[in-house]
Amino acid sequence: MKHFINLKDISRKDLRKIINDAKKRKIARKKLNNLDVDKGAPLKGKLLIQMFEKSSLRTRLSFYLAIKQLGGSALTLRPDELHLSKGGESIGDTAKILSNFGNAFMLRTSSDKKLEEFKKYLSIPIINGLSPSSHPTQILSDIFTVEEIKKKPISKLNIAWIGDSNNVLNSLITASIKFSFKLNIGCPKKYQPNKKIFNYIKNNKNKISIYSDAKNAAYRADVIFSDKVVSMNDKVNKVKKLNYFRKFRIDKKLMNIAKKDCIFLHCLPRGTEVNEDVFFSKQSKVWQQALNRVHVQKSILLYCFGKLR
Ligand code: CP
Ligand code: NVA
Repeated sequence: MKHFINLKDISRKDLRKIINDAKKRKIARKKLNNLDVDKGAPLKGKLLIQMFEKSSLRTRLSFYLAIKQLGGSALTLRPDELHLSKGGESIGDTAKILSNFGNAFMLRTSSDKKLEEFKKYLSIPIINGLSPSSHPTQILSDIFTVEEIKKKPISKLNIAWIGDSNNVLNSLITASIKFSFKLNIGCPKKYQPNKKIFNYIKNNKNKISIYSDAKNAAYRADVIFSDKVVSMNDKVNKVKKLNYFRKFRIDKKLMNIAKKDCIFLHCLPRGTEVNEDVFFSKQSKVWQQALNRVHVQKSILLYCFGKLR
């Protein structure tokens, strides 16, 4: 049994194995319907319990389909209906019940500490479905999408991130170190990665550059990533923050600084950081990106269950 909390804690070899498995599985079920089960139903009889302390559309749907396609089932708990949130039941007791009734637990949370606390008490795998500091399932899936579209290992590509230093970028930074790809970050000085992340970058052999000018970051990029300027539960003055990012909007001009065949990716939901003529252009692959989460999450589940081929 293995947990999936942070890309940092997972070996390069296992991350690559997850992506390769997802590739094979996606091809193998080309003609199947959403709820048809993969050959061999590798997670038959298994229950994935999911809980979201923050909103979710894509992560919720993709994990549901992922476990179903592997032959198992999913149950989504509402945090406001558990004794954990209101009745004072401990994480330890809650974790014991989750472990007895379910086979894996996927948690989207407002607290990184809570993931670690659950991990301490669970005897089933826990998966981080987004936390304040990372969004690992998203980024692993995005690497899959980049390689699928570009038909090259990501280590041979220039990746740009134009946007806030948030959970998604943190996971992209870790991925850049794990998969050894060039990552140019374009972000206003005030919102550049914090000291902890900066030290992590410095202490690891990396190919990461940080620019306070979006054009420098986008120069000759194969892929431009962005995300909302204001994330969920981001307790900031929204108007002020959006103002800082005025020059970091993804528009046609910025896309033209990148390579001709550069693609645009965004985890969604979006805000005003990308213009509609880019978002709905041929270069934008955001719908394919969202759908791929099902395929990669299946392989993440199999990794957690020790059943990766
Ligand atoms: N990208 C992503 O995680 O989407 P949701 O917040 O809708 O799950
Ligand atoms: N950075 C965003 C990602 C949403 C999927 C957030 O945390 O709100």
